Amino acid sequence: MPGKEFSRRDFIKITTGVVGGMIGLGLGLPALAYLLDPAFRTTTKEAWVPIGKLSDMQVGTPFQFSFTRVQLNGWERTSTSYGGYVIRKSDDPTDMVILNSRCTHLSCTVNWQQDAQAFICPCHDGKFSVDGKVLGGPPPRPLDAYTDFRVTQDGVLEIFYKEG
Ligand code: FES
Repeated sequence: MPGKEFSRRDFIKITTGVVGGMIGLGLGLPALAYLLDPAFRTTTKEAWVPIGKLSDMQVGTPFQFSFTRVQLNGWERTSTSYGGYVIRKSDDPTDMVILNSRCTHLSCTVNWQQDAQAFICPCHDGKFSVDGKVLGGPPPRPLDAYTDFRVTQDGVLEIFYKEG
């Protein structure tokens, strides 16, 4: 039985298919990688965050700071702002308390009132002392504090941010 002959037409069909497939892969793979890349991106949930120069923070006067954290989770991008106050107790660069300005009642932002020498919450009149203790109002506990901090060689105060 004679074998089927491989015609010129068959050769062109196969060659066209192979070359077309290679071109499709060459164009399709980068496009697919581009589309899928965000799905694998996440940001770390912990980081050292610079909040200001130590030399700008006077002993005894609350220094206000804020920072924003951007969270990437696949295609979802979330920006969250945080704030607080640094209260230096002496010239010792480690002698300080760093308070979160989020009220421990229902999370409104407290503000330092120089006249009252206290942090006042505008939502329900919560009142905190300069070191964060509850002086009045509904807050159930003192202001939260950032306890992990360091001063860089350039004199920048950094806090260690942990999600939650
Ligand atoms: S949220 Fe601050 S006192 Fe209610």
